Amino acid sequence: MEIKIGVINVSDRASQGIYEDIPGKKVVELLNKYLISEWTPVYRVIPDEADQIAEALRMMADVEKCALVVTTGGTGPAVRDVTPEATEMVCDKMLPGFGEMMRAESLKFVPTAILSRQTAGTRKSTLIINLPGKPKAIEECLSVVFPAVPYCVDLIGGPHLETDRSQMKIFRPKEK
Ligand code: MTE
Repeated sequence: MEIKIGVINVSDRASQGIYEDIPGKKVVELLNKYLISEWTPVYRVIPDEADQIAEALRMMADVEKCALVVTTGGTGPAVRDVTPEATEMVCDKMLPGFGEMMRAESLKFVPTAILSRQTAGTRKSTLIINLPGKPKAIEECLSVVFPAVPYCVDLIGGPHLETDRSQMKIFRPKEK
């Protein structure tokens, strides 16, 4: 099965070309470090508009059949931050443990970690995970939830994801 992974940088300024898309590139860099399975990125940079984010998530899940979609940005309390709302609009099931874990870990680095409303959920056989927009936050958050990602993708009927265990130790309960 071909493995596709969606990467969506949600940012008004990056989508207008005012900022370089550093968050999206950071996600690709981390996934290349963790995964030894061959994978293809499906990449978008879009503004902080709930309808556009939801539409991109639906396309990546239903048309592109991505195993995983990672969003960056738009998780805070600012008026234009709507990525978690768009995620909830399209998911069949929410997985609140992802947000809980990421906030708990992030609090070790910054007290403002509690400002992120980041969450995760599934749409059919696609796992969607929100990350904050700062590159440092991206690594701090993705590294702590990724150990559970391959097994979650197994459970929802996605492809088998394998990692370089020296970079990312994952956990599959049935593995010996
Ligand atoms: N999490 C980690 N690990 N590191 C950080 O620097 N920044 C916080 C929070 N989570 C941060 C973090 C801040 S300041 C905000 S406002 C929220 O994420 C939301 O960020 P976003 O709007 O870019 O999604």
